[in-house]
Amino acid sequence: MARKPMIAGNWKMYKTAEEGAELAQGLGERIRLHWDDVDVVICPPFTALKSVSAAIGSGGPNIGLAAQNVHWEEKGAFTGEVSVPMLADLGCSWCIVGHSERRGMFGETDESVARKVRALLAAGIDPILCVGESLETRDSGATDSFVRGQVRAALEGIPADDAARVVIAYEPIWAIGTGLTPDAEAANDVCRAIRAMIGTLFGQSVAIQVRILYGGSAKPENLGQFMAEPNVDGALVGGAALDAASFSAMVETASLYL
Ligand code: PGA
Repeated sequence: MARKPMIAGNWKMYKTAEEGAELAQGLGERIRLHWDDVDVVICPPFTALKSVSAAIGSGGPNIGLAAQNVHWEEKGAFTGEVSVPMLADLGCSWCIVGHSERRGMFGETDESVARKVRALLAAGIDPILCVGESLETRDSGATDSFVRGQVRAALEGIPADDAARVVIAYEPIWAIGTGLTPDAEAANDVCRAIRAMIGTLFGQSVAIQVRILYGGSAKPENLGQFMAEPNVDGALVGGAALDAASFSAMVETASLYL
């Protein structure tokens, strides 16, 4: 079964509401030809979700809207947090969970990641689950077991139907924002290990459906080599997603691997 390519843009803490709407609009026009053959998702900061949602809203470009984080409780005294129903209300159909910047700088743990995944799935929002190793872990030869452990901790115990909706972004921490990337073959090896873990947890039919993205200094110049690998189904893009020309070039590349 062919998996539909996905290109997701993680805007991190960039773009005001107005700048975000402008970028989304420019993007929509540029990728018009590929609305149907690539799942294009953009992940603005919370404060730009509403304006971006309006810019890509009904009748507009076929671009999915994602948040970058969420809290697992529906509501309550959680200062500074945003809930799943709040994201659904703004038209989000995806949400990044467990990005390494959140794990490393904001105390995200495997336990909180697992709670967020469950809350999102229950509300019909599909998680983009980030996993990936540090340079230290890579140098010690433990990458596969570390990443497999992150996948197991986040997903074990959820129904197989729900697991098939999860997108996994394999992002080596040392490649994020550094301009460094692993060999495409090495990235594919880790993605293959992730897929095998999904197979162990949920069976082969789920394993062949789940999309696995590469992330970490992905850009128009290197995307093709990752997309050519059998276990890589797209990319989670940071820096190169902030510019309509470079992001749309990546969508175009991905469309060649349908
Ligand atoms: P980068 O970020 O493309 O700027 O390396 C990727 C990410 O953090 O998702």
